[in-house]
Amino acid sequence: MGTFTKQSFESLYQQPLPGGYFHRLAPLRYRSPDFARRLLPGTLAQLRRRTGRRRLKILDLACGYGINSALLKFGVDFATFARRYPLHPARGTEPPRNSPQATAAPTLTHAATPHEVVTHEVVSRDAAFLRARAKDTELTVVGLDVSRPATEYALAAGLLDAAVNTDLERTDPTAADRAVLAEADLVLATGAFSYLGIATLERVLALQSTPPVVLGWPLYGQPTEAIARCLADHRLTVTRPDPTPRHQRYFADAREREAYHYSLRRLRLPFVGSAAETSLCVTSLLAHPAVG
Ligand SMILES: C[S@@+](CC[C@H](N)C(=O)[O-])C[C@H]1O[C@@H](n2cnc3c(N)ncnc32)[C@H](O)[C@@H]1O
Repeated sequence: MGTFTKQSFESLYQQPLPGGYFHRLAPLRYRSPDFARRLLPGTLAQLRRRTGRRRLKILDLACGYGINSALLKFGVDFATFARRYPLHPARGTEPPRNSPQATAAPTLTHAATPHEVVTHEVVSRDAAFLRARAKDTELTVVGLDVSRPATEYALAAGLLDAAVNTDLERTDPTAADRAVLAEADLVLATGAFSYLGIATLERVLALQSTPPVVLGWPLYGQPTEAIARCLADHRLTVTRPDPTPRHQRYFADAREREAYHYSLRRLRLPFVGSAAETSLCVTSLLAHPAVG
């Protein structure tokens, strides 16, 4: 997008727990994963009608800590999840330590360090919290993300059913990756297109025997012609169900805001009076297989 580069939060996704991710992004009112809430129920219902199957496989690109799955499988949105990781925990806000469900995550099999023990406890409590809210147990969610710590958390918490950490921007998937990534009904991309691009999309779509539905939210102002061409090459029809720029998060700082507005001005895209005036914005992109 011209000269605009949003602030990189990549290091937030390299921690064994999502605390840093929530602490940095919750104050910016991050809403990226929650976009799924508006379009997904209808998309999933349509897919179930079309396939005649209740069980659907979702492939979450750049899944991070599995936050999309929290919403889809457990009805837990970003803000609700973030409240489990308060910046300054008050007494009594911690979930119960000895609840009978708090033993769900895989047990530690080696002599663990104190840090690993704490991490394990937190993951176990998150897993119990999520299990108690199970909403759609007929979704299989597979995550693709280069961050192993993030997907390890998501697997242990029960958010993901399987994960792939290969960087498909650079290399082909392994045989094991292929098995995990194939047969997707829906490919989801929230907060993804600033981190990965056509190479990943192309490699993922090439593995599918039947074209999946693809639902993503590129940044408002991000060129999407190449994404659309790639989707069309895979027999997908691209629509923009909601072209309005929607708040993804507040700007990290004034410099980011200025750079974003400058790039929108260069592209002659309006932003005054819209959410893009105060926020980094996205617009939805939906691609579905041709009927018949
Ligand atoms: C902004 S986060 C999005 C997380 C989540 N989808 C959300 O909406 O909050 C971007 C993620 O992209 C991942 N990532 C960066 N480069 C990637 C690549 N080449 N392939 C897959 N994931 C990548 C990062 O590790 C990080 O978890």
